[in-house]
Amino acid sequence: MIDEDFEPIIKRRDLKRYKDKDLFETVEEVFDTKTVMTILYLMRKRIIRRMNGVISAGKEARVYLGFGWKNEPLAIKIYLTSSAVFKKGMLKYIIGDPRFEDFKPGDTRDIIYAWTRKEFRNLKRMYNIGVKVPRPITFKNNVLVMEFMGENNRRFPLLVEVYSHLSIDELKKVYEYILEELFKIVCKANLVHGDLSEYNVMVKPGPDIIIIDVSQAVHIDHPNSLEFLIRDIKNINRFFREEAGLNDIENVDEIIGVIKKCLRSKREG
Ligand SMILES: Nc1ncnc2c1ncn2[C@@H]1O[C@H](COP(=O)(O)OP(=O)(O)OP(=O)(O)O)[C@@H](O)[C@H]1O
Ligand SMILES: [Mg+2]
Repeated sequence: MIDEDFEPIIKRRDLKRYKDKDLFETVEEVFDTKTVMTILYLMRKRIIRRMNGVISAGKEARVYLGFGWKNEPLAIKIYLTSSAVFKKGMLKYIIGDPRFEDFKPGDTRDIIYAWTRKEFRNLKRMYNIGVKVPRPITFKNNVLVMEFMGENNRRFPLLVEVYSHLSIDELKKVYEYILEELFKIVCKANLVHGDLSEYNVMVKPGPDIIIIDVSQAVHIDHPNSLEFLIRDIKNINRFFREEAGLNDIENVDEIIGVIKKCLRSKREG
């Protein structure tokens, strides 16, 4: 029961708004019973000790700051199993990937679990060959646990959030670093990121970069991998040319040429 004294401060109308909007949108929508069970499972397995606030609340996934048993900060990404719109978009990155040949799409939940597994596998593959991505820790159902990228429990900023504070030299470095990671992802991990943009690159002091959000990455044998690769390069080039105002942008065809050469020499041994 609400104390009458509070009535002038917390208006009934506001209470209703908090209840519907904040509580249900940011808490209930992501924490359905199965997701809560999954988090509890990860706690029992001593992966997660506690969960803190939300770092990011997107339409498809929420990322939380959490802590492990050694008190190490974790980034816990939870895919919303209620996000049906998402399902259609996901399938084109799953079907056609030789690693998911046996996958038979069932209900939305199956697709979202496959998507989480895919992000974990992509992250692991990239991390293992030395791409600058967060260290994958584990996944279960729609929950992915990885290394938290930040300092003092604050995440590093995204490229889109900091570029205007960087000098031209720093921007050049960041651009070159992104291309280096792109080459590694394709030539060494044999993957194409598929959603590379100023929103999926974090910048840490140095500057240095971290590539995130690798769920949609596909194997280079996927029938659309070249199309996705060209789109990634064009996105990055457009951002640096048009938003960041950088002049020395590499030519898309030249970048593709270098990547193809690298893949060819790898195939020939
Ligand atoms: N390992 C991490 N450490 C710290 N922060 C992270 C980490 N991974 C993601 N984040 C933060 O969470 C945000 C969302 O993560 P990500 O890009 O992986 O999800 P998303 O699929 O884009 O989510 P949505 O599209 O639903 O917003 C990032 O922009 C970043 O701010
Ligand atoms: Mg993202």
